[in-house]
Amino acid sequence: MRIDIIAGARPNFIKIAPIISAIKDLKNNEIEYRLIHTGQHYDNNMSGTFFQQLNIPTPDYNLEVGGGTQAEQTGSIMVRYEKLLNDSFKPDVCLVVGDVNSTMACSIVAAKMGIKVAHVESGIRSNDWSMPEEINRIVTDSITSYFFTTSITANKNLVDQGVSSEKIFFVGNTMIDTLEKFKSKLIKPDIWDSIKLDKNNYLLLTIHRPANVDDDEKMKGYLEEILEHSNNLSVVFPVHPRTQKVIEKLKINHKNLYLVEPMGYLQFNYLVKNAKIVITDSGGITEETTVMGVPCITLRDNTERPETVTVGTNELIGTNPLSIKPFLVKLFDEKWKKGEIPDLWDGFAAKRIIDILVNLNQQ
Ligand code: UD1
Ligand code: UDP
Repeated sequence: MRIDIIAGARPNFIKIAPIISAIKDLKNNEIEYRLIHTGQHYDNNMSGTFFQQLNIPTPDYNLEVGGGTQAEQTGSIMVRYEKLLNDSFKPDVCLVVGDVNSTMACSIVAAKMGIKVAHVESGIRSNDWSMPEEINRIVTDSITSYFFTTSITANKNLVDQGVSSEKIFFVGNTMIDTLEKFKSKLIKPDIWDSIKLDKNNYLLLTIHRPANVDDDEKMKGYLEEILEHSNNLSVVFPVHPRTQKVIEKLKINHKNLYLVEPMGYLQFNYLVKNAKIVITDSGGITEETTVMGVPCITLRDNTERPETVTVGTNELIGTNPLSIKPFLVKLFDEKWKKGEIPDLWDGFAAKRIIDILVNLNQQ
């Protein structure tokens, strides 16, 4: 069986790493794969570092699309992936992960060429159509043949949308496979000693969703509220490239605020593991905090990962900066919920996916 594995943006790299390992672990080499990097993310600290740290092989192809508007980026990925398929060969399956533009663009190209699409992390829904990711999820799932899910809720969403249940496989979470594999190899980042961080003596912040970073007033409000109610602890903020512009514009200086570049996976998760709390609008990070049992606040009005709230340590607090204070008060009163680990987030999702694909191929 021949598979194209597509990855383009930071969270994709973390999700594909264990899938490639599981293919390599097959005893009879039943799967031949090519790794296609679309080039959606391209800076070393958004791409290259993950390949090094997570032992992901060098991509067989890099489509080098870079940034652009939604249509420019999506269109460019589609044109380049279609050309690659025409110039080389057509695999049996195109495996895409998550919900970024690379996911949707390559799945459309593959489906139109009669190649089966396997979608890892299918079925999750925020029901918020203003998010580019929700459109990417719905479009991708509308042309997927094999649906691999991280939760029973995702299975239910797919069934409700008319997908037949034989095509849906609840396998767990490949992002958590990576965490399980690397949790004993996390690395203390340089900032740890330079500003004297210690377990529970800092807050960790990441913000990158357009709905937050494209609104100056909201960003200013978030930073002011967090700094005012953080009990004088340091706030470490690795700044995503999309967020950089607004940070420069706001010119916020505060003795407790430490702006740093996006971090390597091993350094970032060292900071997650030891943080008093993580405040974020990332989807993936809420899954990692849930598994590590670290309190987490999500600055969004909805989530496609409800189990991080109902089972895990995450609180979905909305996007009004004034909502932050009561949650930080609760945190410092040591009243945060404990949380548990969602079903099948156990480190073996990628193996399940590959076993299922091998099995389907033999039918
Ligand atoms: C994308 C995904 C989002 C995901 C996020 C993970 C879509 C629609 N969005 O958002 O779902 O949560 O990745 O981080 O696919 N840039 C750089 N260097 C890089 C990458 C990006 O400078 O290596 C800058 C460019 O100016 C680019 C902008 O960041 O235009 C946005 O990048 P893009 O990939 O379009 O979207 P993200 O906001 O990163
Ligand atoms: N991450 C990282 N360094 C950082 C910020 C995040 O390694 O500075 C990792 C994080 O541990 C998680 C993934 O990137 O595995 C989440 O990606 P991101 O927040 O960009 O995307 P989302 O999950 O919101 O789509």
